[in-house]
Amino acid sequence: MDLKSLIAEMTLDEKLQLLTGKNNWETVGIERLGVPSIVVSDGPHGLRKMVREEDGSYKTLKSTCFPTASAMSATWNPELAYQVGECIAEECQAENVDIILGPGVNIKRTPLCGRNFEYFSEDPYLAGEMAAAYINGVQSKDVGTSLKHYAANNQEYDRHHISSEVDTRALREIYLKPFEIAVKKSKPWTVMCSYNRINGVYGSEHKVLLDDILRKEWGFDGFVVSDWGAVWDRAKSLKATLELAMPYDEKHFGALKKAYEEGKITDEEIDSALERFLTIVFRAYNARSKRVKEYDADKHHEVAKKVALESITLLKNEDNILPVNKSKVKKLAIIGEFAAMPIIQGGGSAHVQSTKVDTPLEKIKHLAQKEGIEVEYAISMSVPSHSQYNQNTALTVAENADQVIMFVGNRNHVEGESHDRTSIRLAPDIENAILQVSRRNPNTVVVIQAGSAIDMSCWIGKVKGVVFDWYSGQAGGSAIAEILFGVHSPSGKIAETFPLCLEDTPSYDTYPGDGIVSWYKEGIMVGYRYYDTFEKPVLFPFGHGLSYTQFEYSDLKITPDVANENDEITVSLSIKNIGHVQGKETVQLYVRDMCSHVLRPYKELKGFVKVDLEPGEKKEISFKLNRDAFAYYSTAVDDWHIEGGLYKILIGASSQDIRLTGTIKISAE
Ligand code: BGC
Repeated sequence: MDLKSLIAEMTLDEKLQLLTGKNNWETVGIERLGVPSIVVSDGPHGLRKMVREEDGSYKTLKSTCFPTASAMSATWNPELAYQVGECIAEECQAENVDIILGPGVNIKRTPLCGRNFEYFSEDPYLAGEMAAAYINGVQSKDVGTSLKHYAANNQEYDRHHISSEVDTRALREIYLKPFEIAVKKSKPWTVMCSYNRINGVYGSEHKVLLDDILRKEWGFDGFVVSDWGAVWDRAKSLKATLELAMPYDEKHFGALKKAYEEGKITDEEIDSALERFLTIVFRAYNARSKRVKEYDADKHHEVAKKVALESITLLKNEDNILPVNKSKVKKLAIIGEFAAMPIIQGGGSAHVQSTKVDTPLEKIKHLAQKEGIEVEYAISMSVPSHSQYNQNTALTVAENADQVIMFVGNRNHVEGESHDRTSIRLAPDIENAILQVSRRNPNTVVVIQAGSAIDMSCWIGKVKGVVFDWYSGQAGGSAIAEILFGVHSPSGKIAETFPLCLEDTPSYDTYPGDGIVSWYKEGIMVGYRYYDTFEKPVLFPFGHGLSYTQFEYSDLKITPDVANENDEITVSLSIKNIGHVQGKETVQLYVRDMCSHVLRPYKELKGFVKVDLEPGEKKEISFKLNRDAFAYYSTAVDDWHIEGGLYKILIGASSQDIRLTGTIKISAE
């Protein structure tokens, strides 16, 4: 039976029931008509399947905890996001889950956002590309995804009601862009609307966003699900084309029925929503025959480790303090409870119960032993007990060692869902511990477990090395140990700017709004677009990350260098590893409009490639650019527009470390 005929067989009550959930995690099925119920579960960096116990309480099943999205994007390697997607899909299959609720692709507008660890970047292109790869990985195994939270959900503070007031250009170029890229490149089965309002209208009721832009303009052909409890007026949300309100809420059925009886929603609106919804329900149901019954947890752990290895970001490495050098270090002090009990993910609905956890301390001890290095461990002064004993021991251990590696970070009460950070500095007792330890031992390296930028200004000058470990998932402990000991060169690069301090961030004046609205006054000047355009100094620029080797960039070619706005342009260059160890470099391509009549950022990321090079090895890489690389969103024509004239192509190792430049002339109509 085709869907139209199936829907025609349904009673009104059955139809309206289908448009809301059965419970927290399942949709309604209709047995007499063979309509299956499907199961959704949280992600995004691992499967969080909750099962109901006999006493009514929920238990979370174990699954692989992969590095969170902010770590994933620090790899700048979409292939890894794809592999994570494949693994998560297998775990979904084994646990009978049809759709994973992720990835989250909201822009990191402020480093304060409590959920930044769940998001990819401050840059829409990078965020969109990583999300698309993840989705393609999951869906290659016939498991669905839910691209979330659509849209402009960039703070947790007051997230249920705040209106993100964003101008059209910023909405298009910054906040919608990652959704647009992911929808066009990977066709997610579902999109999840956000809680907040966008320019006064709730995400769940936003017909322009849901129907005009998402479906009609971008060609989205799945269904829209509400964030959990994000539907306020069910009839309005149906009219805006939101098909599924989750979780089950008795009032939604009544609201729809009343609206129908009053003629406020039509048969056509109900039936077309059902058709779109059931298309995915049957797609999910038919895919069940391909399910694996179990997955290889060890293999998934290895994938988690691969991602962690490529995400770990070396921010500072004075005197080549890293990797740990056995000719200089006989005694190594490891300080901080984060070494023994790492924070591997942020808090909230994304929190998974990992199958196991590699601890940095254990793995460091193992590698140190092989090198003949003695390791002494002490918890730092930042443990809750604050005991004098711990302080003294940690300082003595630091003093007696040739080198110190201190593990610090943000716990889940700092970075998690439903709340934002109140500061981007580490907790005062942690900062104090770093200062005290570094005073006792100048050879101090700090390893930070966190999901978003940290202001390090009060201590960074006192330590020789800083490694950003992110929330690196259950295998992160092995990965960080191998990076510290030089088994691999670090190759992560930050996917967000690390400002000098919170006061320097472009949204500082307007975040978090006045309780009713949050003005996105900075417009398109988000992240490096702001810092680089207005030449504001930063702690570490977007795209920064060091390696144990060096790379030489040469031979930039742009073909053609005079082009029509619809031509495809090839940019190629050579990159050579000129150091002594193997390493991976992420080459970033930025575009600058030299002739614009409108305000444009000084540079915008339009391409990136990660290359693996042995010492002395040279490779040629190339980028393909199309009109998206040059266009801005014109509110005059309400469309993407390219101005004819000169554009600069900037090739860099970060947004501020530009190694090669060239120009191209674009002729536009
Ligand atoms: C979160 C979503 C999540 C949902 C279900 C909401 O509070 O915002 O990201 O998927 O809960 O747990």
